[in-house]
Amino acid sequence: MESVANSVHLPPLENPNERAAVGAELQVVLQDLIDLSLLGKQLHWSVVGAAAHGVHVFLDELVGEWRELADVVAERAVTLGVVPDGQSSAVAAGSRVEPVRVGSLPDHAVVWELGRRVAAVAERIRERLGSVGAADLVTQDVLVRVVATLEKHQWLLRVQLGEKA
Ligand SMILES: [Fe+2]
Repeated sequence: MESVANSVHLPPLENPNERAAVGAELQVVLQDLIDLSLLGKQLHWSVVGAAAHGVHVFLDELVGEWRELADVVAERAVTLGVVPDGQSSAVAAGSRVEPVRVGSLPDHAVVWELGRRVAAVAERIRERLGSVGAADLVTQDVLVRVVATLEKHQWLLRVQLGEKA
């Protein structure tokens, strides 16, 4: 992560001393979102069972949304003058998303395993919203959008398991 924070054209933050720290928060979220999108593809290829086709197609929708969110998060970091690292080495070193076993997985297990991981990512970001907002409300808004989208995905996965909405 490179800082280019010496420009006069950078947005002012509620706490300008926190620019690098806010960039670091965005870096962590970026890693998790990229890894979620990789995991989604892995499960897209692994799913078997009666509902496999529907899950297979649905997973590509989720992957597309996670990739878009990753782009928004990365571009917020650059906007603040902090260049994020979205390369595989950074994602492998920093992601907190639990990998899955390589091999075929029944449709309900795919939905369960993915739902658990999406929830974990959303919870970790939610825990940081308060401190991020104290440093930069606009970044907090970006992360609120990420959490809202992930929590919506939790619901869409949960109902596929037959749980109450
Ligand atoms: Fe595909």
